[in-house]
Amino acid sequence: MALSNPLDSLSSDSSTAKMLTLVTAEMEPPAPYHLLTSVVAPRPIAWVSTLSTEGVPNLAPYSFFNAVAGFPPTIMFSVSYRRREPQEKDTLRNVKATGEFVCHVVDEALCEAMVKTAVDLPHGISEFEAVGLEAEPATEVKPPRLKDAPVAMECKVTQIVPVEGATNVMVLGQVLRFHIRQDLYRNSLGLVDTVQMQPITRLGGPVEYTKIGELIHLPTPQNLPHHPG
Ligand SMILES: Cc1cc2nc3c(=O)[nH]c(=O)nc-3n(C[C@H](O)[C@H](O)[C@H](O)COP(=O)(O)O)c2cc1C
Repeated sequence: MALSNPLDSLSSDSSTAKMLTLVTAEMEPPAPYHLLTSVVAPRPIAWVSTLSTEGVPNLAPYSFFNAVAGFPPTIMFSVSYRRREPQEKDTLRNVKATGEFVCHVVDEALCEAMVKTAVDLPHGISEFEAVGLEAEPATEVKPPRLKDAPVAMECKVTQIVPVEGATNVMVLGQVLRFHIRQDLYRNSLGLVDTVQMQPITRLGGPVEYTKIGELIHLPTPQNLPHHPG
């Protein structure tokens, strides 16, 4: 396929910012993926623990992750298939089999351990053990929760949705219980102190992450209706 040169589309009008135009259908994989992940950024990281049917805990990071509903609180993460065998990642295999997971926030203190849990271990070997992370029993679900995570959300799987045309599957889960480090909880507001939580977020490419930036306050105009999200 002849690839168009994005520089050909540069605007010649010097009064406006020069814009590139890229047609995704003309881009060679994995270029659209890399571009997308650098644009849709920073992305929070779901550090997901699951349990296999044989009872082996699994822990892996997913940055195709977000909240998708407030009532009931629902989150999603998206798992791609591997090109090589086994194509199905352990996390997906386990949520399909058990319908449960625990989603943790990755903070600055845990980011190096988080990266170590993204390596492929043979099915049956737990990242908790391989990386030396302490697990505690969860309350509502069977997968363990990571003791040192600042926040853990115990979830039951509500939907598993294949992404049209992609080798990804979206897993949606309803949060049944939050575990929050006590010093992070702002009782009067019912919020976590997100700055204090020090989450690590992912940018584009394989190695770029960021810490939380400067806090700014932007009050919503009074006349706008309340809209979750
Ligand atoms: C920060 C980070 C974010 C990641 N996000 C995703 C993602 O959103 N989807 C995905 O399929 N893999 C993602 N990965 C790769 C998986 O973590 C990796 O394939 C892992 O080995 C899967 O483990 P599992 O087989 O135990 O589920 C990410 C890796 C890192 C380090």
